[in-house]
Amino acid sequence: MTPSPVFILAIESSCDDTAAAVLQNDKVLSNIVANQLIHTEFGGVVPELASRAHQQNIVPVIDAALKKAEVTKEQLSAVAFTQGPGLMGSLLVGSSFAKSISMALNIPLIAVNHMHAHILAHFIAEEGFEKPIFPFLALTISGGHTQIVVVRDFFDMEIIGETTDDAVGEAFDKSAKILGLPYPGGPLIDKYAQLGNPKAFAFTKPRVPGLNFSFSGLKTAVLYFIQKKVAENPNFIEENRNDICASIQYTIVEILMDKLKLAVKETGINQIAIGGGVSANSGIRKTLKEAEQKYGWKTFIPKFEYTTDNAAMIGIVGYQKYLNEKFENNSVISKARIQF
Ligand code: KG4
Ligand code: ZN
Repeated sequence: MTPSPVFILAIESSCDDTAAAVLQNDKVLSNIVANQLIHTEFGGVVPELASRAHQQNIVPVIDAALKKAEVTKEQLSAVAFTQGPGLMGSLLVGSSFAKSISMALNIPLIAVNHMHAHILAHFIAEEGFEKPIFPFLALTISGGHTQIVVVRDFFDMEIIGETTDDAVGEAFDKSAKILGLPYPGGPLIDKYAQLGNPKAFAFTKPRVPGLNFSFSGLKTAVLYFIQKKVAENPNFIEENRNDICASIQYTIVEILMDKLKLAVKETGINQIAIGGGVSANSGIRKTLKEAEQKYGWKTFIPKFEYTTDNAAMIGIVGYQKYLNEKFENNSVISKARIQF
């Protein structure tokens, strides 16, 4: 007898995207994201505005996810939500909603760590995408995190390196801001970088021992470099935008690759999976693919829609937790910071 399918409704609201997805086992039936454009004019995410926008978006987004999946509320096996890390006001919208659904439908409630989800997104069943085999190394690179994680099993992970200051996404976004680009600038740096010379300008790489990262020095180096060049030529940015972006991106990718090489050496694990918003970056994707030939690594790069914040990744962790009956009761609380 084939087991009856598991339908998970997943909700992600940790930062500035309101997202909902419906999964049937490890397959994504729908994956809806409402971006909050309101933050662009402020040059960064405004927490108070984010939670208000989540309040407005959450019902239509969940509705759309169920409709697209052609799954009724009554068919749902469980509801999963992001417990943290993230902005408290934003997290509370998702958790309160998930609790209400769990109570109203009398289905299990599942709490998901957002960073686990960025890693486990690789276990979503997608044609043309292979799933990693345990153990593997995960490089999670987002606007809030930069970590190297040894992933031994779905719920057995260990951080072996992380940033001591800015996250890599912040390095992209802050550099972009210095160049006068709107928030979030990471994708724009990527766009211009593809047209520029990565060796046009040299930025010093930070010296951080072991597997930890530091990105605040790079931001300062970019700032001083731009200030000096603009003092000499007020049109310097406009005239050199592609080369500046390519050089910044090249330096960031080099910093990440240096640490990955060290992590492979120290752990003896050469399967690398990347996750988080910055894994959308074309420079990182290309360099990792080249590393397969160069160093004999096996690399896993998620489908584009599962790189930046989304609820499908919350759903796949929800599915694994459902199989292991890792459920919460209604007193579970959201956590801005959360134990890995
Ligand atoms: O995972 P994510 O959507 O949200 C967080 O959990 O932080 O990551 C957002 C970050 C932002 O810093 C954004 O600029 C960066 O990912 N990002 C990129 C690219 N696409 C998104 N950075 C560089 N190149 C990209 N193509
Ligand atoms: Zn994220």
